[in-house]
Amino acid sequence: MGAIIIDGAAMARQVLDEQKAASGQLAQRGCVPGLAMVLVGDDPASAVYVRGKERACREAGVLSFDARLPAATTTAELLQKIDALNGDARVHGILVQLPLPEHIDAVAVLQRIDPAKDVDGFTWRSLGALLDGHALLAPCTPSGCMLMLERAGVPVAGRHAVVVGRSSIVGKPAALMLLERNATVTICHSHTPELAAVTREADILICAAGKPRMVTADMVKPGAAVIDVGINRLPDGKLCGDVDYDAVSARAGWITPVPGGVGPMTVTMLVHNTVQSAARLAG
Ligand code: GUN
Repeated sequence: MGAIIIDGAAMARQVLDEQKAASGQLAQRGCVPGLAMVLVGDDPASAVYVRGKERACREAGVLSFDARLPAATTTAELLQKIDALNGDARVHGILVQLPLPEHIDAVAVLQRIDPAKDVDGFTWRSLGALLDGHALLAPCTPSGCMLMLERAGVPVAGRHAVVVGRSSIVGKPAALMLLERNATVTICHSHTPELAAVTREADILICAAGKPRMVTADMVKPGAAVIDVGINRLPDGKLCGDVDYDAVSARAGWITPVPGGVGPMTVTMLVHNTVQSAARLAG
């Protein structure tokens, strides 16, 4: 029997509708949630991502404030911009689209964001809170993965979850969230020997390695839930995930497609975090 496909696009729409209702209620109390999106330079992929995020905001009744800055912007100028957004009462969430141009001190910029408006969940304050089990605003991609598991009815408590990838944006926070839900968690990465032997033990397998189709069917336990965070562009221009979808979906219990899986949920969680931040800041 084939795996249950967790339809991220459909789930994202549902969550976006819920956020629309929540932002409508806030608007009635005089607080329209607002998200500032800072885009430095003209990286075409980043521009596409930002447009998608703007569209999701529009659909959920969230205002988006577009802050486009030239590629030559200095770190000091960008810090000034962040300070202005931190102090702007219309703005409840601040997103600095990554990657930033190389000459900019990305760490300094991201850490300047007021943690109360850190809808990406990248500040050390947000990540520290997550580590200690008191999440403020949590990173969007792993939050989206967790919501997909929850709404698909995948049991987490007491199960073995394996996360492939250890980035601060996905792998590490995903591991913390799974731990918070009482999974036994293993993190694997590029230095892990016998990766397949570890992934075969996973009841839940989160793949965030950024390597096209690296997770093959023989690496997956029959019946496992496989969440594919990878978005890789193949030489023919098509998108594929980190999971060999066709082969793995014949063996897994649940699987997320690429595109149409984790990607739309990530954007939706950004809207969710902005509405949550607005509700907190509105008191
Ligand atoms: N670039 C790629 N992924 C992300 C993300 O989740 N947040 C931001 N701000 N930039 C990104």
